[in-house]
Amino acid sequence: MSRMRIDDSDITNAQIFEILLDNFPDIIHSVDDSGNIVFTNRKAESLLGYARDELLSMKVREIYSDEVLKKVDEGFSELKKKGDYAVESILKAKDGTCIPVEIRSFSIYDDYGNFLRTFSILRDIRPIKELQNSLVHAGRLAAIGEMASGVAHDINNPLTVILLANEMIGRKLQRSDSIELPALVAGVSQSSSEIQRASQSIQKLVQHLRNFSRGMAEKYEVLDLRNTISDSLFMTASKIIKYCIEVRNDISAGIHYTNGSPNQLEQVFVNLISNACDAMSDREERVLTIIAKECQREDKPFWQVDISDSGTGIKKELLDDIFRSFFTTKEKGKGTGLGLSISRGILRDHGGNISVSSEAGKGTTFSVYLPKHDCSTA
Ligand SMILES: Nc1ncnc2c1ncn2[C@@H]1O[C@H](COP(=O)(O)OP(=O)(O)OP(=O)(O)O)[C@@H](O)[C@H]1O
Ligand SMILES: [Mg+2]
Repeated sequence: MSRMRIDDSDITNAQIFEILLDNFPDIIHSVDDSGNIVFTNRKAESLLGYARDELLSMKVREIYSDEVLKKVDEGFSELKKKGDYAVESILKAKDGTCIPVEIRSFSIYDDYGNFLRTFSILRDIRPIKELQNSLVHAGRLAAIGEMASGVAHDINNPLTVILLANEMIGRKLQRSDSIELPALVAGVSQSSSEIQRASQSIQKLVQHLRNFSRGMAEKYEVLDLRNTISDSLFMTASKIIKYCIEVRNDISAGIHYTNGSPNQLEQVFVNLISNACDAMSDREERVLTIIAKECQREDKPFWQVDISDSGTGIKKELLDDIFRSFFTTKEKGKGTGLGLSISRGILRDHGGNISVSSEAGKGTTFSVYLPKHDCSTA
């Protein structure tokens, strides 16, 4: 950067502010009633790749990524009414690069309460997002580690079926001289269908594990929460069977649609189900109940999925701590304490959230909130 030269005796407040704003590490801009950018600083030029003159001839929505434009318009109206607003969003630089930002905005009004302008500070949060993604990935790897022993067990059963059926075929073929051809064909084809079924269940399991451990770039799609829950129960089946847990899954198919990453949401439910199983492992009554209902959050329709267990419960004073990264009450090797903090991050990224209610000694309910997808606009 070239060195600034100013005569100290002449320095005005306006110059001081200009210097401060231009050297501020975040974008600062001001927008008028019609959405025109009327002020901006140097960081906006360097981050977005536009010259200041270009920015000052643009509407603010032009610096946002297409996928967030609807929210930008809604946010701008809310900001004008409410006076302040904080949100995460995505900017689009001149070369098309998408930049996730954290935005804090406020509005100013004249003496009669008429809206004049917004002022916003936009912070580039790419480093934070990268760290969050690594954490999500680390949490997923930890979950896979835990599932690996269960999966080995689940593969063992169909594998035994395959080996036995194969042996039966071998034996029947050896005795083919003494068996009528139709009976031989029927016996061999029965064993062959058993092999086919068992191989398919192994294939499903392996495919699932591969999808689950896939990389970090997650694509959002419209999904049926019933399928996500079924897949999560499938992935935690060995724990459910091991602890003889009764599962009451009341979610019907074809109703509970949301827009999200199937993998990430499965990661959330796998952790909640797995936590519930752990909490019930030594209990007499071991019931896992899953229900879904519609609810309103800030006047918008949401799905609320409740995962309830009849486990140990959580002490009141720990209810906040459980969402902290690395908080665990499990012995070493059994839990990293990342599950809930990652789940909360994932759900917030989906525009949702998670809450908990629990009674020590009686059980716990985790409620997952996800925006309802309106199928009529699909
Ligand atoms: N259903 C539950 N019943 C009782 N305690 C729970 C329940 N769910 C979570 N907890 C408590 O919250 C803590 C944090 O849970 P979290 O899923 O974040 O981590 P973890 O299960 O210990 O480890 P990880 O999920 O990373 O393998 C748990 O160690 C446990 O003490
Ligand atoms: Mg957990």
